[in-house]
Amino acid sequence: MKPAERHAELCAEIARHDYLYYVRDAPEISDRQYDRLFQELKDLERAHPELVQPSSPTQRVGERPRQGVVKVEHEHPMFSLDNSYDEDELREFDRRVRDGLGHAGYSYVAEPKLDGASIETIFDGGALHLGVTRGDGRVGEDVTDNVRTIRAVPLTIDEPRKLTLRGEVVIYRRDLDAMNDKRVARGEEPFANPRNAAAGALRLLDSREAAERQLRVFYYDIVERHYETHAQALDAIDRLGLPSHKLHRLCKDVDEVLGFVHDFDARRSSLPYETDGVVVKVNELALRDELGTTARFPRWAIAFKFEAERALTKVLSITADVGRTGALTPVANLEPVQLSGTVVSRASLHNIDYVEEKDVRVGDTVSIEKAGEIIPQVISVQLESRPRGTRRWKPPEHCPICETPVERAEDEAALRCINGRCPGRVKAGIFYFTRRGAMDVDRLGKALVEQLVDRELLRDVGDIFGLKEHRETLLGLERMGEKSVDNVLEAIDRARTGRSLSQLLTGLGIPLVGTVAAQLIAERYGTLQALLDTPAETIAEQLDQLHGIGPKIAESVAAYFGDEVNREVARKLIAHGVVAEQQVVEAAEGPLSGSAFCVTGTLSEPRDAIHEKIRAAGGEVHRSVKKGTTYLVAGAKVGASKLKSADRHGTEVIDEEKLAALIAG
Ligand code: IVH
Repeated sequence: MKPAERHAELCAEIARHDYLYYVRDAPEISDRQYDRLFQELKDLERAHPELVQPSSPTQRVGERPRQGVVKVEHEHPMFSLDNSYDEDELREFDRRVRDGLGHAGYSYVAEPKLDGASIETIFDGGALHLGVTRGDGRVGEDVTDNVRTIRAVPLTIDEPRKLTLRGEVVIYRRDLDAMNDKRVARGEEPFANPRNAAAGALRLLDSREAAERQLRVFYYDIVERHYETHAQALDAIDRLGLPSHKLHRLCKDVDEVLGFVHDFDARRSSLPYETDGVVVKVNELALRDELGTTARFPRWAIAFKFEAERALTKVLSITADVGRTGALTPVANLEPVQLSGTVVSRASLHNIDYVEEKDVRVGDTVSIEKAGEIIPQVISVQLESRPRGTRRWKPPEHCPICETPVERAEDEAALRCINGRCPGRVKAGIFYFTRRGAMDVDRLGKALVEQLVDRELLRDVGDIFGLKEHRETLLGLERMGEKSVDNVLEAIDRARTGRSLSQLLTGLGIPLVGTVAAQLIAERYGTLQALLDTPAETIAEQLDQLHGIGPKIAESVAAYFGDEVNREVARKLIAHGVVAEQQVVEAAEGPLSGSAFCVTGTLSEPRDAIHEKIRAAGGEVHRSVKKGTTYLVAGAKVGASKLKSADRHGTEVIDEEKLAALIAG
């Protein structure tokens, strides 16, 4: 078979399996088999780069982040929906529709209201053309590159006409849980709910990051009037192989709509994604035009919102949790109560401003809610049942764990314990360090860490690797027999020698350093010792030049390794035989090796693209002209100060053409 034929066959085959998996929910092959097809396609494209087209499944994820936000005006505004909360309000809506039309010759489609982020996707000539967020309804953001990463969305469809689809981007609950585990392991804040995670992911500038968020889409509308009814449009969406919720019901009147609301409420908790209501839409599109819209809402549709599950309970006390960074989170300790299938005895109060604003007091009866949120939250106080003699809650002046006076930075909502040795912070820091994704010390659980910190056997993460000297003490702890002590010590030994430097750096919880940054830093330095041997200013400079690491991260890492307390911990880790090595990835060798470039002015390509070319040819990139900058690549409209500084540092000023010549060797 000719390579071009095999290429077309593989593209079609992979698209079909994406469809079966993501749209039909009925895969025919294993992940392994899928990966094999994908690898074959990649190999084929490497051997025949001329075969690569935008519609190839290999082209879903971009090579580099997009350069900032591009606004797009919606051809047809994206309205939002008016809300209703009970049967009366829904009947009232139906009356308005009937009065508006002057007859009862209409039907409704009732369908789930998905709780995510709205998206418009335009196909033209059979190809995915544009993805735009809702924005303010008139102007949204171009997020095409992120929409392309969603494998439920085909890159080509069998419909040459322009098709403007609207739908909801969601994240499955189970995908969010897995994602949050990873975030917590990296020392990042977990997403509060799938909606925030989806909306945030859609707007990421780097589609490689968006691709990791496991986004899905369900389309619920086609803007063009290719069909007469909404039900036909939903069928067409499905027939074209596009993802839709497939849970709608055609209803002949409002009573049938109420029946759907009832049925759907009973089953929605078993869906893999969050829904927060039912959308009721007039089915006949011509009648929609007759009804028209108000300034904000269509008159032909309404949302029926389900109440988030709530429970009432009593506040027994208000305490504050101390996090790894010292931030204090107020928490309400509650009389245990059943809520959405679990017993809840603690609920977040977010921050001190929140407690003050809601005036939550010990003894109060509060309403708590889970509503798709992972952690229950206190929503409101029932003032009418407040007992006499309660007092306003006073934010702690001292850390509840170590009693150091707390501080509040001006622009922050959080109070912080600034004692780096605070046992609360130490415990939280050790949990981060030992979690999966970081050093993965699986047997060192929370209860054990708490005991070890309380007995001062663990003062920092370095002490973990000296625990084998304290075998006797370990045996004296609660629920620690010979066997469990062995297991813990073995798990520690596995972590001692079996982890990469990037896992170690992730675990240290250096501000702003997540797994991706940790990986890049690890590949630059190879060992912890190398980081210790490099002066802080040099780390800042070197990392600033590393592609993918911004100046803020560079500064943060430099500050971390410039701090004597942190250096002591690092030395301890090394002394305890923690290996954590990483293969150093050398900068490319090439015609520009040994030269450093600063790029400025308006050029024929985005600056990032030029930086990339310089690095690929072995050159270094400087963000400003400084000592050691060999060339200043100047485009149009170069600032005078740049030229002056080039003069001062003996930097040669060249143009793009000269740069191209240097790269060509
Ligand atoms: S129809 C004019 N259908 O709810 C019609 N919207 O406040 C507007 N949503 O921004 C949209 N599920 O993101 C429609 N089945 C559904 C929906 C849905 C969720 C969202 C949509 C919109 C918001 C309305």
